[in-house]
This record gives sequence, C-alpha cells and structure tokens, in this order.
Amino acid sequence: MQKKTLKIVIVGDSGVGKTSLMNRYSSGKFTGQYKATIGADFLTRDNVVVADYYGINHLVTLQIWDTAGQERFNSLGTGFYRGADACLLVYDITDPHSFDNLNHWRQQFLEKVGGGLMGLTDSSGTFPFVVLGNKSDKAMERLVAPEQAEEWCRNASGATIMGSQPLPHFETSAKTSENVEDVFVEAARRALIYE
Ligand code: GTP
Ligand code: MG
Repeated sequence: MQKKTLKIVIVGDSGVGKTSLMNRYSSGKFTGQYKATIGADFLTRDNVVVADYYGINHLVTLQIWDTAGQERFNSLGTGFYRGADACLLVYDITDPHSFDNLNHWRQQFLEKVGGGLMGLTDSSGTFPFVVLGNKSDKAMERLVAPEQAEEWCRNASGATIMGSQPLPHFETSAKTSENVEDVFVEAARRALIYE
C-alpha cells in the first residue's frame, strides 16, 4: 500500500461543532464546553485505511484542519486552504441559520482554495465536499430535515469523473460519535479520486 497525506478542511458557522468533530475523530474525546476557535489549528490521524472506488486499499495520514466560524477570528489567508484535498461543510441540525450559510461557506472555500486541485475547484461542483448535519443526538430539537439537506446536496453537486452524484450527506454527532469515522473516511475516499 502506498502512503499519502490528505488535507481535510472543516468549515461552517460558529458553534456547529467543527472543533468537537475534529477532536472526536483524532482523540476520541468530547467536551460539552464551548471555546471559540481563534485562527486555525490542525491535528493528524495516522494509518487510516481507505478503500477507493475501485476497492483498492490506501494507507493514508489524514491532516484535519479546523477553522474559526466566527468571522472576526477568521483572518486566514488563502495559504491555510491551499492544497486541501477535501472539505467538510458542517451545519447544526438544530440551527437553520447554519444550514442557510452552507452556500456561503462552500463559495468562500472554493475562492480561497484556488491553487489546490488544478482545474477542479471551479463552480461545476467537482471538489470533494462532504456535508454534515451535526448534533444528531439532539433530534428532539431538530429544525433542519434530512430531506432539505439532501435537496441542497443535489443542487450543489455537479458532474464528477465518477458520474453525476449528489454531494454526500451525513448526520453526525461529536457527542455520541455517530457517523464521525464514516465522514472522514468518505472525505478521504472522494479525495483519492483526484490523487
Ligand atoms: P467555532 O470554533 O466558534 O467556529 O465553533 P465550532 O464549530 O468549533 O463548535 P464547537 O466544536 O466548539 O462546539 C460548540 C458547542 O456545541 C460546544 O458546546 C460543544 O460541546 C457542542 N457540540 C458540538 N458537537 C456536538 C454534538 O454533536 N452534540 C451536542 N449535543 N453538542 C455538540
Ligand atoms: Mg471551533
């Protein structure tokens, strides 16, 4: 197996759980306390086995880059995003505003990543995005239906070299771990298409 490093950037509104998802995935921990991310940070997870679309296993290192959702703390230049191989677009299922902002985050990411994937970062929907509705453990407070998110994913997608598919959508919980492993593996799998 060949070893690759894949850079996965997490974006979305403040408070949706980006840092919590990164911490859950890289260290298996969760805290209910909120501490706003200032600037950005990254953590790695080594020796992740990812099967590509042809069923071939790859041994990869995932570099997870966490960003600040609060605009005033988000003064990151394009350097931070450059070379990103995949992007997690996160909203909170109890916060419709965070869902409405997905377009903004997707657009901003594509503008900043620029030189990342040659020719693949245009608006035709080819960049490997994965859409996450986080806080699935708070189903009683849900204000965004999965169907709404899936419709957005269909509209945001375009033709890929794997054919035309909606962007993948998962409901996750950094609190219970639901689907957390799966979203990172799916992001890596999509990134491998372009390697
Ligand atoms: P910024 O750094 O400001 O952009 O916020 P963020 O997106 O990194 O959010 P963060 O991970 O700090 O989480 C915000 C709050 O939501 C914290 O109190 C977390 O404990 C809580 N939280 C995050 N994920 C979940 C989840 O899946 N379920 C529940 N119930 N709470 C969560
Ligand atoms: Mg954060």
